[in-house]
Amino acid sequence: MGWSCPSNIALIKYWGKRPVQIPMNPSLSMTLNEARTKTRLEFDYNPANHNPTVGFLFEGKKTPAFEDRIIKFIKSIDTLIPSLAHTTIHIESENTFPHSSGIASSASSMGALALCLVQMEEKIMGPFPPGKFLQKASFIARLGSGSASRSVYPYFAVWGATENWAGSNDEYAFPVKDYHEKFHQLRNTILIVESGKKKISSSTGHSLMDSNPFSNTRFIQARSNLSKLKTVFNEGDWDGFIRLIELEAFTLHAMMMTSQPGFMLMQPGTLSIIEKVREFRNDTGCRIGFTLDAGANVHLLHASADADLADRFITSDLVQFCEDGRIIKDQMGDGPSRIKT
Ligand code: DP6
Repeated sequence: MGWSCPSNIALIKYWGKRPVQIPMNPSLSMTLNEARTKTRLEFDYNPANHNPTVGFLFEGKKTPAFEDRIIKFIKSIDTLIPSLAHTTIHIESENTFPHSSGIASSASSMGALALCLVQMEEKIMGPFPPGKFLQKASFIARLGSGSASRSVYPYFAVWGATENWAGSNDEYAFPVKDYHEKFHQLRNTILIVESGKKKISSSTGHSLMDSNPFSNTRFIQARSNLSKLKTVFNEGDWDGFIRLIELEAFTLHAMMMTSQPGFMLMQPGTLSIIEKVREFRNDTGCRIGFTLDAGANVHLLHASADADLADRFITSDLVQFCEDGRIIKDQMGDGPSRIKT
């Protein structure tokens, strides 16, 4: 069996958590389409086997660092998937995006792994009640990486309890269905300013929020921004959308810079792109804005109706700031899919 699970880009950011993988504020993301992890899992369930093993290959090769993380993770969830105690597992995984693209792969990889494990559990133990399969996958994915909890749903997903969406909670994400047609088929062009490994792990970044003097204000602001985003979604307010996502991007990086020790992930190219995007938007009215992840790369979000205009601008004005001129074109996607084997 196998699953292909997309990555996602947060619009309202998750930054700061408490044990076990509980976010300090609710977050909301857009599910991508092209940037995916494809994971295949074979299993042998034998109630008489009390010492099953887990094997893992990444892109066809043994990768000890990844394998250790996966084995540790699988051990940590054995009370949630009881059949794991008697099941030998072999997992193979690959990403559709280049390894050194600066795109975080934990959301798609932990999403795909969680979907495979939950499907395995279903095959061994019998079907879940309607709607519970993805909920369980999101719950398990969250324990692997918080942002992965959102990747199992199409379009937009919210993770973390908020009074704005009934059913939202801290333990698994929830699909957002109420948004204006102006936000259908949003494009996401990723400008690779810097590829390569992250300088600071997400875990370190999250933990630095514990002592950041602005963290409580930030957590309150994130709730308020999420509430505003709900109104923006209902009204189809494109300008409000841009204002919010850019504010969230700046706040995430402000939190990094004001942590102790502070760190800065933006590069000169990041700032040049941001300046150019704002200038271009003012001059042309193109519906385009930016957000940032935990890195120097810029995620541009643009309306599909303005795709040609945006593409021409990216080629003529922005590609020059990208490492080896690299960009990745992605868009809002309809979530994970089963791999037929
Ligand atoms: C900046 O989900 O990578 O991308 O739970 O420690 O695995 P862990 O963190 P992770 O953090 C993502 C942070 C972010 C914002 C977001 O995706 O909401």
